[in-house]
Amino acid sequence: MANPMLTIAVRAARAAGNLIARNLGQDNFDVQEKAKNDLVTDIDKECERVVASTLLKAYPKHGIIGEESQERGMADSEYQWIIDPIDGTTNFVKGIPHCAVSIALQHKGRTQLGVVFDPMANEMFTAARGEGASMNGQRIRVGSLQRLDAAVVCTAFPVRYRARMNDYLELFHRLIDQCADVRRSGCASLDLCYTACGRFDAYLEQGLKPWDFSAGELILREAGGISTDFMGTPNFTKSGNILVGNPYLVQALLSKVCDPQNLAGTLR
Ligand code: IPD
Ligand code: CA
Ligand code: CA
Repeated sequence: MANPMLTIAVRAARAAGNLIARNLGQDNFDVQEKAKNDLVTDIDKECERVVASTLLKAYPKHGIIGEESQERGMADSEYQWIIDPIDGTTNFVKGIPHCAVSIALQHKGRTQLGVVFDPMANEMFTAARGEGASMNGQRIRVGSLQRLDAAVVCTAFPVRYRARMNDYLELFHRLIDQCADVRRSGCASLDLCYTACGRFDAYLEQGLKPWDFSAGELILREAGGISTDFMGTPNFTKSGNILVGNPYLVQALLSKVCDPQNLAGTLR
């Protein structure tokens, strides 16, 4: 791996991943509810501290935007690292071995690097803009399936935005009618990476935050996938409503599952 910033990000992800692996399934950590259905543990905070200190040791003039402690380093730097120290905290708390460390680097607001590490499966997904995407050093690509009725599509329920549930359930109904099957994994960054390597044919979720999607979305695009919001525009970076897959399936999902008339008010 020639890219020095990617090397540092991978080192930071491994350090946090070790902490996750040592603590998953234990009951000796503190769990707090930040908001309804939104948990944080002292392991999340420790992972974020480890990632931020590894990055800032190498790049003291960069900034850090982390889910748990907001900003560190130079807030006005052109380089900003976006960290989700444990993506899939509910899985982690329940001892479900499906969570990840997610680290992206933006330069002037554009994502340049993405690292998503699943410490339990020892899978390291990486991408650098314009250089393709890999898993454990092997090049990955999105699936080539063109038939929505044969597709396995990942999604998530808006448990933190209950007011959107009825609209979402109508969408879910169309989704299950149109595709072969549906998955909900509890880890958005891995949902994006699983789509990037063809395990899922497509993925859609609403209300994601930059630390949930920034790294995985670059990995997905570098693996040949495309990303839109539920209206077919690039505004997912603002709304957090994201739909990804190969171009055929994204188009099919936009026309057959996402219904702009119905969803514009709540999901835009
Ligand atoms: C959550 C997970 C989950 C997704 C939520 C995210 P967290 O992140 O990625 O799969 O459905 O939207 O907020 O809170 O575990 O870091
Ligand atoms: Ca997250
Ligand atoms: Ca998190």
